[in-house]
Amino acid sequence: MADSTLVNEYSMHTATCGQLRASDAGAEVVLTGWAWHTRDHGGLIFIDLRDRMGYTQIVVDPDCVSAEDFAKAEHIGREYVLRIEGKVRLRAEDAVNPAMATGEIEVLAQSLQILNTSVTPPFVIEDGIETDETTRMKWRYLDLRRPEMYANLELRHTVMQAMRRALDERGFIEVETPILANSTPEGARDYIVPSRPNPGKFYALPQSPQQFKQMLMAAGVERYFQIARCFRDEDLRADRQPEFTQVDIEMSFVTEDDVMTMMESVMHEVFAKVGLDLPIPLPRMPYAEAMERYGCDRPDVRFGMELHDITDIVKDSGFKVFSSVAQSGGVVKAINAKGAGDWSRGDVEKLADIAAANGAKGMAWIAFTTDGQEKSPIIKFFTDEEFAALKEALDAQPGDLVLFAADTPAVANAVLSALRLHMADALDIPREGHKLLWVVDFPMFKYDEDEKKYAAEHHPFSKIKAEDMDKIESDTLACGSYAYDIVMDGYELGGGSIRIHDAEEQRRVLRVLGLTDEDIDEKFGHMIHALELGTPPHGGIALGLDRLIMLLAGKDSIRDVIAFPKTSSASDPMTGAPSTVTPRQLKEVDLRLL
Ligand code: AMO
Ligand code: AMP
Repeated sequence: MADSTLVNEYSMHTATCGQLRASDAGAEVVLTGWAWHTRDHGGLIFIDLRDRMGYTQIVVDPDCVSAEDFAKAEHIGREYVLRIEGKVRLRAEDAVNPAMATGEIEVLAQSLQILNTSVTPPFVIEDGIETDETTRMKWRYLDLRRPEMYANLELRHTVMQAMRRALDERGFIEVETPILANSTPEGARDYIVPSRPNPGKFYALPQSPQQFKQMLMAAGVERYFQIARCFRDEDLRADRQPEFTQVDIEMSFVTEDDVMTMMESVMHEVFAKVGLDLPIPLPRMPYAEAMERYGCDRPDVRFGMELHDITDIVKDSGFKVFSSVAQSGGVVKAINAKGAGDWSRGDVEKLADIAAANGAKGMAWIAFTTDGQEKSPIIKFFTDEEFAALKEALDAQPGDLVLFAADTPAVANAVLSALRLHMADALDIPREGHKLLWVVDFPMFKYDEDEKKYAAEHHPFSKIKAEDMDKIESDTLACGSYAYDIVMDGYELGGGSIRIHDAEEQRRVLRVLGLTDEDIDEKFGHMIHALELGTPPHGGIALGLDRLIMLLAGKDSIRDVIAFPKTSSASDPMTGAPSTVTPRQLKEVDLRLL
């Protein structure tokens, strides 16, 4: 929190617009700021003068200022920059505004100086505006003048400072790593930068400092952190930007437990700094359990509506969609959306679009109306015993709507996880406060259907569970890893792992991912060498700072907590980036556009 007394020492003003209180009555002050609202009350002009610390009511009385200054005051437009000299006075009792920090006082102007004028702004500088986001981003400096936007910047600052302090106190040192780097496989496309002195060669902007932080462990740094900018060319969403910030951490001679315990205590301290109590230790949930109960690896555990596996109940039923899926190795799962039992058939059927968008081939449902009826296209296929068992497994009561997905576990989970979140919104299920947890015991590999090969679930430097080492090649998908994610309110806030520190183990993992020995030497030779040269056991984590601030600020998009974010097409309407370059610039880097 900026200390306003220090600010004043070096400024054109003697107080900020958020500072003056009843106890200041009688003081002569100088304020600077922006004309926010002006009102002409029959001869008296009232100006709400705003700066980042708040706003103060200025009264311009023709009897107290020169005729020239009064004439200026009559023509002040929105967002004019003013300097006011005046005297603090108590407001009349009926004019006190308890909703305003400076609401007990006003400043009676003695002189008024216009430091700058403003053309009419393209949108009003107020909280809660509904201006479209591209317009806000084009005039981002105006958007950031809005108190709620400044508050986000300040919250971000507070959290960053608290992080730095907490990590410093725990013996971590902050080390910067290169932006012009080589490719780091975090699963996204790289942003590439041509190198002029090396025609035909490119840097990749780091998707994370992963390889560098491991090199720092090889260097004996032992406890590293960095508030690091990362770049990923991927489909953008509300919680994804092409450049974003990680609190990136790495430690040597540690176990998973050490990293998680350290992180929890840092988070506890940071939360306390912003007035929140974070009970620690955080709960830990195995990945398999998260998938089973919530259908995703970043469960929002602030509400129930968990997934139920009813495969066993329906595997021999007369409803072929279910029985055939069950008999061919798939699963049938369901959620019970309590409170939606009286939804119209049309509204229920619309949910099938959400299911389809997540890969479902259909979405069976049963509505249990509050007046005791059961509506569904599929009940007729079940025996009384099967239906009774279903009702019991799902705790179905009048007023409930049960939604089904029959598919591979991956699709059924994705479908029901999306429906669960949608229904929580649709039914206004309270999701207040924050819930954090660890998801642990991630699998090491997944199968990439598009590329038809194995990919790392986290990244290829995570260590495989000791007991699974002999299965790397033979039962690849069954290998677990020492990887963990920290989840907050249904978002993946951060992820990390204990790393491989044995050169041969690292080679084996990279081979499983389809790299040849030549590829390995070319792309990861530096890492393999480091592992051969006394790299200690190590592990770490990276937190998505933007997501943390978004959640703490109660926003839906990380764009609101980034000073200068990009649009969903990765452009900046303010500066016009990305932009074209001259033929000469292209020639310098040996490139020609197709
Ligand atoms: P990971 O890829 O899980 O791990 O990233 C860590 C955290 O960074 C945040 N994040 C993003 N935030 C905004 N926009 C994006 N495009 C974006 N991508 C990721 C998420 C995520 O949890 N090197 C590893 C960490 C490690 O193993 O120590 C890594 O980068 O909150
Ligand atoms: P059908 O027999 O194809 O008309 O399907 C009957 C009901 O089952 C419809 O409500 C479908 O939406 C639903 N359904 C079809 N396939 C699936 C599936 N894989 N998972 C869940 N419901 C399904």
